[in-house]
Amino acid sequence: MEEILIKGWIRTRRDSKTFSFLEINDGSCLKNLQVIVDEGIADRAIMENVATGAAVSVIGRLIPSQGKNQTWEVTAKNLELIGKCAPSYPLQKKGHSVEFLREIAHLRPRTNLFGCVFRIRSRLAQAVHQFFQQRDFFYIHTPIITAGDCEGAGELFKVTTLDPVANKSRIEEQSYHKDFFGKPTFLTVSGQLEAEVFATSLSNVYTFGPTFRAENSNTSRHASEFWMIEPEMAFYDLQDNMDLAEAFIKELIRQVLTTCEEDLSLLGKFVDRGLQDRLNFVLERPFTRIRHSEAVTLLKSANQSFEFPVEEGLNLQSEHERWLTEKHFKCPVTIYNYPSKIKPFYMRRNDDGQTTAAMDVLVPGIGEIIGGSQREERLDYLLENMTTHGLKEEDYDWYLDLRRYGSVPHSGFGLGFERMLMFVTGITNIRDVIPFVRTPGNAEF
Ligand code: 4AD
Ligand code: MG
Repeated sequence: MEEILIKGWIRTRRDSKTFSFLEINDGSCLKNLQVIVDEGIADRAIMENVATGAAVSVIGRLIPSQGKNQTWEVTAKNLELIGKCAPSYPLQKKGHSVEFLREIAHLRPRTNLFGCVFRIRSRLAQAVHQFFQQRDFFYIHTPIITAGDCEGAGELFKVTTLDPVANKSRIEEQSYHKDFFGKPTFLTVSGQLEAEVFATSLSNVYTFGPTFRAENSNTSRHASEFWMIEPEMAFYDLQDNMDLAEAFIKELIRQVLTTCEEDLSLLGKFVDRGLQDRLNFVLERPFTRIRHSEAVTLLKSANQSFEFPVEEGLNLQSEHERWLTEKHFKCPVTIYNYPSKIKPFYMRRNDDGQTTAAMDVLVPGIGEIIGGSQREERLDYLLENMTTHGLKEEDYDWYLDLRRYGSVPHSGFGLGFERMLMFVTGITNIRDVIPFVRTPGNAEF
């Protein structure tokens, strides 16, 4: 029989007269390994500390199990206590609420649920790279500290080394020359503008990194720090962009379904009973595509009262997005050609003069998961857009150069990584798919 060495943490211990059953897990997968420790294998003093939460090392024989819950088990020949666990350990056998576990985010990855979520998170990140690398996209690292507000929403975290408390005054515009970078700087809200630089040089590129928004919305889908994937493609129009976005979401789902089966099965049992069926359903059929104006018409004739008004020139609210995906179409929906005035300056103006070549992908249970557009590649229109949005030409000179020197049609989008993770795990709160969440009023750990 084969002898093996295992190291991990004890999940549970059960004692019978002459031996103990230990359930050991090292976090590499959902299932525990059962270890049988006969009396006398370890000193009494050690066995007293062999309890839930303790770290141990076991050498033993791997044998087919008699029990019905596992195929294999280990009979220990040697057991060492690596790290004992204080009695105050909060993760005892009974299930804990996700709200309680959020408060102990440094221990929750040791639970079955969060072990699954974070193993899938890692796998999903790899699937992102695989998707783009297989298509010969180049991975670009865009800066985290930026001087501009890409989305124009003003939801920026300032980066400064000036101490407003010591100075006893607000940091005034005039004093920026004394600041670290000699000008106002912020944490990035998006790497898109910098990605455009590389798309108009290397053709197909993507970014995958942290982004920051000082948006004061305390919802289950917003975090102040989240990860975004932003592909940017030269010579792509809106249609190509929508096709890529759909293929991307489907491939991510396919990868998770085929490589995270065990973890998904736990989520399908305890978090979202319809999870696997829903994911398979999304894989099998094309997303619905409708113009923003069509979405507005549908919403206006909906047999439901909404809290927020539905109008041609207004943004869709989460309740509207959810009605479209969950009640009406019952599948992901790509909405395109949004009114220009509710979208950022960089989006391409459509010939009607009123709408812009924007697209959002909405999914059931979450709403917006992707936002993107074809970019305005024509210098004169871009300058006009900037004026409408109150942006100064000198602040975007480098961006305008891309339109001066060999400008080409190009497009891209941003996928919220955590929202995608929520979609594939069935977890309904963004706080439970990020290792250490940052939300308004909360930056623990
Ligand atoms: O729609 P957004 O704001 O688009 C952009 O930032 C573009 N520059 C992307 C591009 O075209 N390259 O954000 C893109 C996605 C959203 O669809 C959403 O999934 C996610 O990022 N997102 C958030 N996720 C979590 N918390 C927040 N506060 C988020 N804000 C946006
Ligand atoms: Mg958006």
